[in-house]
Amino acid sequence: MTEASANRPTGLPDFLAILRRRTWIIAVVLVVTPLSAVVFSKLQQPLYQGTAKVLVNRANIVSAITNVTDPSTVGNDPTRFLTTQSDIARSPTLASRVVDAAGVPGLTVEKLLADSKVTAAANADLLNVSVSSTNRRDAIRLADIYAQEFTTFKTDLDTARINDALVTLRQRIKALSAAGVSPASPSYATLLQYASQLETVGKLLANNTQVLNRAVAEQTRPRTKRNALLGGLLGIVIGVGLAFLAEAIDRRVRVEKEIEESLDLPLLARIPRPPRRLRNADQLVMLAEPTSVESETFRKLRTHIEFVNLESDARTIMVTSAVGREGKSTTIANLAIALARAGRRVALVDLDLRRPFLDKFFRLESVPGVTDVVLKHSKLLDAMRPIGLTGRVRDLDPSLKRGFGWRPSSRSNSRPTSSRAVMQSSNGRSDIEGVLNLLPAGTMPSDAGEFVGNAGIAAIIEELRQQFDYVLVDAPPLLAVGDAMTLSAQVEGIIAVTRLRFVQRQLLHELARHLEMCRAEKLGFVLTGAELEEGYGYGYYDYAPSKAERAEQQIP
Ligand SMILES: Nc1ncnc2c1ncn2[C@@H]1O[C@H](COP(=O)(O)OP(=O)(O)O)[C@@H](O)[C@H]1O
Ligand SMILES: [Mg+2]
Repeated sequence: MTEASANRPTGLPDFLAILRRRTWIIAVVLVVTPLSAVVFSKLQQPLYQGTAKVLVNRANIVSAITNVTDPSTVGNDPTRFLTTQSDIARSPTLASRVVDAAGVPGLTVEKLLADSKVTAAANADLLNVSVSSTNRRDAIRLADIYAQEFTTFKTDLDTARINDALVTLRQRIKALSAAGVSPASPSYATLLQYASQLETVGKLLANNTQVLNRAVAEQTRPRTKRNALLGGLLGIVIGVGLAFLAEAIDRRVRVEKEIEESLDLPLLARIPRPPRRLRNADQLVMLAEPTSVESETFRKLRTHIEFVNLESDARTIMVTSAVGREGKSTTIANLAIALARAGRRVALVDLDLRRPFLDKFFRLESVPGVTDVVLKHSKLLDAMRPIGLTGRVRDLDPSLKRGFGWRPSSRSNSRPTSSRAVMQSSNGRSDIEGVLNLLPAGTMPSDAGEFVGNAGIAAIIEELRQQFDYVLVDAPPLLAVGDAMTLSAQVEGIIAVTRLRFVQRQLLHELARHLEMCRAEKLGFVLTGAELEEGYGYGYYDYAPSKAERAEQQIP
């Protein structure tokens, strides 16, 4: 798989997974955008729009009277007619008449035309004359004046030519009467008839356009609700866009298969993140909730390691990872408990001398530890802490409430006299289900990098190897410092821990390269930060005994 294609989403489930992973981004954007829209709306100065309706009579009076069809009205298209009328209403001559009539200071023809509009009503021979203003009363008044001036303007336009014709007719009539022609003569009578017809038409045309009602005003700004809704829609678009952008620039590895192919190692287990209550209290799930689904993942890891070990027989095993905080210490401590509970003799050694942690999981002092033994400030047996693991939850010390499955062995204070005694403690005592022997880090050396190369450490590991079935070593990350590389020469097996959605792709490749150089056997890798497999839980519960049965059998 190439780097580019490794994390590319391919189907709907992948896209949904991205949205789920980036829910936070989307949620934040979805809150911010509508909120900004509302704030923006509240800051806007209100704007009002006054609208007056003008009735425009479409019937062609001239044609009706003269019985001559006007070619311009053939087809009688109402839309075209009203569009023409609204164009007339936008004439600058009319606008300047409105400005004069209104007498509003600062109002110019340009401003009026910019702040107003004339539109044709959809289903009636009506024009809507609208004027916007930040003042409600001004909006109404200007719309009224505009509508009124429009009717006057329209009348003037329509009757202008008729008036011209009438003037000419009257001059001719005057000339005839001056010439002494009798009004009864046919030509005189015809002229008189024309004149009276034209007067009628003129009067009719003058009433062709009428203001229908007084203007009413509505608030057109701010449209808070609409803006909030648009903000919300925009928020979805931006949020989803940002989610995908974040995904695209995120170089962390999110696909298990990519890790498997990069490391070229078998997957030993998928371990989910410990529940928050355990993380906060630095508790191990194998101790606190030994019957949980999470604990089952560690038992699975144990089984896989033992299975792999049938061939390689690596008894000194180290965990490492590319970077810190991938879950090495948590994993190896839980694994040690799982192995001890299965009756194996287990030594757990903390050789992460820069960030030792195992002592905290077991609430023990870190000193004396492995460094003190190496420096001969302490004996190995004195530094080893046997920890008794009990499966009997009801036997618990009340101070270790909340489901602890362990308690320090009664022997942990009185030091065991021989390592054999430590090992024997796992047998014979009915309330102890195995003993785990912890060797904490001890006094922090100033030169941790040099220290892990000390021959004394190799000797301790070898000595423990003689006495235990498993020696598990917690080590620092492989990439940051040389410690882990040095340590790898002193163990037989390595388990790589890689946390999903945490380690960057390029570092994963580096890890693979470093592991290649380690001589020890690479047993496989553990995927931390994994999700519990769907169906896994069901399967487990289906086959697992009921709670009551478990209590009866004290299944760890
Ligand atoms: N399986 C896991 N998946 C995800 N996070 C984990 C897992 N195990 C431990 N963590 C968390 O990772 C952090 C580092 O754990 P730790 O075991 O100290 O890692 P490391 O030893 O690699 O530095 C802790 O906050 C721990 O709760
Ligand atoms: Mg650690």
